[in-house]
Amino acid sequence: MGRKSALVTGGAGFIGSHVADRLLAAGYDVTILDNLSSGRRENLPVAARFVEADISSPEAAALVREGAFDVMCHLAAQIDVRRSVEDPAFDARVNILGTLNLMEAVRTHSAATRVIFSSTGGALYGDFAAPPSGELLAKDPEAPYGIAKLAVEYYLAYYGRVHGLDTVALRYGNVYGPRQDPHGEAGVVAIFCNRLLDGRALTVFGDGTQTRDYVYAGDVAAANVLVAGASLPAPARLDARAFNIGTGVETSVNALAASLARAAGSDAPIEYAPARAGELQRSALDVHKAQEVLGWSPRVSIDEGLAETYRWFAAHRAGATA
Ligand SMILES: NC(=O)c1ccc[n+]([C@@H]2O[C@H](COP(=O)([O-])OP(=O)(O)OC[C@H]3O[C@@H](n4cnc5c(N)ncnc54)[C@H](O)[C@@H]3O)[C@@H](O)[C@H]2O)c1
Repeated sequence: MGRKSALVTGGAGFIGSHVADRLLAAGYDVTILDNLSSGRRENLPVAARFVEADISSPEAAALVREGAFDVMCHLAAQIDVRRSVEDPAFDARVNILGTLNLMEAVRTHSAATRVIFSSTGGALYGDFAAPPSGELLAKDPEAPYGIAKLAVEYYLAYYGRVHGLDTVALRYGNVYGPRQDPHGEAGVVAIFCNRLLDGRALTVFGDGTQTRDYVYAGDVAAANVLVAGASLPAPARLDARAFNIGTGVETSVNALAASLARAAGSDAPIEYAPARAGELQRSALDVHKAQEVLGWSPRVSIDEGLAETYRWFAAHRAGATA
């Protein structure tokens, strides 16, 4: 048998590049599809083939059809929640219509490509129960970004049920780690790292007691690789093939700032600014399902992960200015 093949959309981005690295390490032939709108060429692993195209393009559809990949990890997206509020149509064009372009290509070719969609846990569930949120909790996305992710999850269930496609949704917490962009859901870690390196104060919105589930990018990439090879029940309804990928632990912004300042050996002050409207006070994901069905659990503790991330930003800065 030949090597298994994987397409990673958004593989020049933060999480996608970690997914590509791990798939290569697991022996996959990896092709990356990315339009470099926020991704960077330097994130591309040398062993991967790179196709520069938009997910909405005929080239992307042809690649998916002709590549007959064993697995497609679909991470390419418009990831900026605030931009989705300012321009919901742009968000929907990329995140819904772009995804449908790829899904139709999967549907109309004969190979059994497993589609692993990068969804969100942090922007999907309503504020109905105390955290951690399980997969079955009612959905109540606040912003067009989360609405589009939920819409795609409904489409995945539809493609599974009606067309027999093999689809999975991974709902990430706030992902952080090396190569992180400051604009994503967990952008605060990248912003704080840069501020600490500049010797500036850390700005916290509100009183800093608001919590999030911060999950390390390497752990998220490992979940993608596990799912790529897992045997799973047939896809059916929304939630059936969805897995929360987080830690189950709530970390406050104050604790995050303190941990990063320790990692940096810095005594930078924290400045408090007015809370942002519409922000959830508490959020964490129940990850028992991923543990039970996939045998996945997060390996990297928040202090280790933040220290590693800070080291990466520090080395990256040093390299950039050397
Ligand atoms: N960062 C988080 O905390 C987080 C949390 C939940 C879900 N996610 C999801 O994970 C995925 C990856 O996010 P990330 O944080 O690595 O962001 P990122 O911006 O670093 O990666 C997205 C990649 O997609 C590419 N891209 C964007 N639009 C494209 C298009 N139209 N055609 C082709 N490529 C395109 C970008 O160039 C970039 O390389 C996204 O789907 C995001 O919604 C991220």
